[in-house]
Amino acid sequence: MKISILGTGYVGAVTGACFAELGNDITFVDIDPTKLDCIRTGRSPIYEPGLDELLTRNLHRISATTDTTQAIRDTDATFICVGTPSNPDGSIDLRYIESASRDIGLVLQEKEGWHTVVMKSTVVSGTTKGIVRSTLEEASGKEAFRDFGLASNPEFLKEGSALADVFSPDRIVIGAEDPRSREVLETLYASFDCPKLVTAIPVAEMIKYVSNAFLATKISFANEIGNLCKLMGIDTAEVFAGVGLDARINPAFFRSGIGFGGSCFPKDVRALIAQAEASGLHPKILSSVVAVNEDQPLRLLALLRKHIPDLKGKRIGVLGLAFKPDTDDIRESRAIPIVSALLDAGADVIAYDPLAIANFQSFFPEITYASSAAEVLESDAVLIITEWKEFEALDYTGRLVLDGRRIQKAAVGSIYEGVCW
Ligand code: UGA
Repeated sequence: MKISILGTGYVGAVTGACFAELGNDITFVDIDPTKLDCIRTGRSPIYEPGLDELLTRNLHRISATTDTTQAIRDTDATFICVGTPSNPDGSIDLRYIESASRDIGLVLQEKEGWHTVVMKSTVVSGTTKGIVRSTLEEASGKEAFRDFGLASNPEFLKEGSALADVFSPDRIVIGAEDPRSREVLETLYASFDCPKLVTAIPVAEMIKYVSNAFLATKISFANEIGNLCKLMGIDTAEVFAGVGLDARINPAFFRSGIGFGGSCFPKDVRALIAQAEASGLHPKILSSVVAVNEDQPLRLLALLRKHIPDLKGKRIGVLGLAFKPDTDDIRESRAIPIVSALLDAGADVIAYDPLAIANFQSFFPEITYASSAAEVLESDAVLIITEWKEFEALDYTGRLVLDGRRIQKAAVGSIYEGVCW
């Protein structure tokens, strides 16, 4: 199949490379020529383990261009993978989705033959059959589902393990309402033997949001219980190991600590809340998920103040800046509120992360960046923010360590406390 991918951010880059690996011809489209240059030379525009190799291996099936018209004209299906930033009220900003839809519609006006438009970006339920459909129809003068295909195919990728998530998915969700779009997506995923759920388009969009909201809810629930377990002197990890053995519950995403960050959970939960509010509902559980999550990093700071009441002039080491290990992504990283609060309190912050220093530095140029994790240990207190594997290999003997993520090895510190244990 010939597929164009609009947007070469995280979702677009991974999706396009994986579709190429499946044997399809891929045209990546972006307005940023540097990203396209990367792709053309087999380098990923974003950090994701294995993606460079995948692009390099499939370069003969890959092209990259800024010419949207040509890309759409020359392909059978277009996946919209552009960004959906947040508005100040938490709802999603659809300006890139709308302009991608307009670009596609203008090409479809002239194009003969069937073309399928697939929404891959995370959009709140109703978006594809709402603004996307109306923009496509207005720009093309054609009718969706009759003259061209329209479908939703949400992604369930985790940064750091995205390739495994694509090639060994728990399920594939296909939101398709016309037989030809359904066939295009079923053909694309024919080699996968996981459950494939074909639903109405708004249902597929909702499955994506509800999956993320539920996983975020599990984490905030684990954190609330973790806060209680800590007060009671109970090991919360043992509690959840037992709870997770119930097949109805499942052990995943019960790791308590300083909460969830990243480009998805915080944004998606807020967008779902905003959608509910716009419909006149005030979602209590979702609001609490956000409230617990915002409180967790502050609990680590409260622990620090218990041991060092006045942080002014104290050297505080920060281990980890990325929102989770195996990524350089700092979006909504718990390191952000923690470092901000440390600076407000007058602390001297020294931080280390294996991948995320450059990204963090552009927001926090005023702190010291260490060239090794060991250097950070030479501090009045060490805060563990991201559970990088290499932090398990450090010698924490004699240190004051406050752990937001549960690094087992750190428990040898002269004082060691976890945020929920
Ligand atoms: C998340 C979902 O897991 C993916 O299924 C989804 O496709 C993706 O969002 C998306 O919408 O694109 P991601 O944000 O890459 O993936 O990372 P996760 O591994 O889910 O971690 C998110 C945050 O939750 C991290 O800050 C992590 O440290 C935290 N977390 C995770 C916990 O605090 N406890 C846990 O038990 C698990």
